[in-house]
Amino acid sequence: MLYELIHKTRSCRRFKEHEPVDMGSLRQLVELARLGGSARNVQPLKFVLINAPEVNARVFSHLGWAGYLKEWPGPEEGERPAAYIVCLLDTRLSPEADCDLGIATQNMLLGASEKGLGGCRIASISPGLRDVLTLDEHLRILLVIALGKPSESVSLYDQEPGGDIKYWRDAAREHHVPKRPLQEIIAAEFTA
Ligand SMILES: Cc1cc2nc3c(=O)[nH]c(=O)nc-3n(C[C@H](O)[C@H](O)[C@H](O)COP(=O)(O)O)c2cc1C
Repeated sequence: MLYELIHKTRSCRRFKEHEPVDMGSLRQLVELARLGGSARNVQPLKFVLINAPEVNARVFSHLGWAGYLKEWPGPEEGERPAAYIVCLLDTRLSPEADCDLGIATQNMLLGASEKGLGGCRIASISPGLRDVLTLDEHLRILLVIALGKPSESVSLYDQEPGGDIKYWRDAAREHHVPKRPLQEIIAAEFTA
């Protein structure tokens, strides 16, 4: 069921780092991105696929994790991502692609979830990542998707209308994500 798949497709930030994600799986995820909608069908997104441990380590050092968890510096060695998909914009084709990016990354994260992988979009990226990837001038880094076998559990709950939307961790290090309730986000209904 689509609802269950979406429900379990949570941002995962701790992984079984030493369980590899093969290149074929990463390519299958990009195939899901490729089939997504694109404004004017320009398809300006490009992707860099990484599962080499030495490159993973260099990518990791440029990422920012879970800004609301102030006391947590990010995943420790052994629980870091086993793979990355870096989403790029080909600026020769379009000056921006935010809607395309949302569609592409959600398709990939749903596909990852179906494969038993966890993932997290990371927009907090330091400029040095460009040098790691040795990108041509026309390619701009938009977002990184961190991937791997999950080693954390994440649960959703409906927050009270107007309540705090910050995610948090309990004493057992389970991650909890409040979602605004349906009645809060339906701005209007026009019905017969
Ligand atoms: C565009 C975008 C950028 C994000 N950037 C980061 C990030 O830099 N670091 C991080 O740890 N999580 C990042 N996230 C994950 C969000 O924190 C996460 O989606 C949110 O807490 C809700 O949790 P959920 O994805 O499980 O629904 C990002 C999510 C989106 C959609």
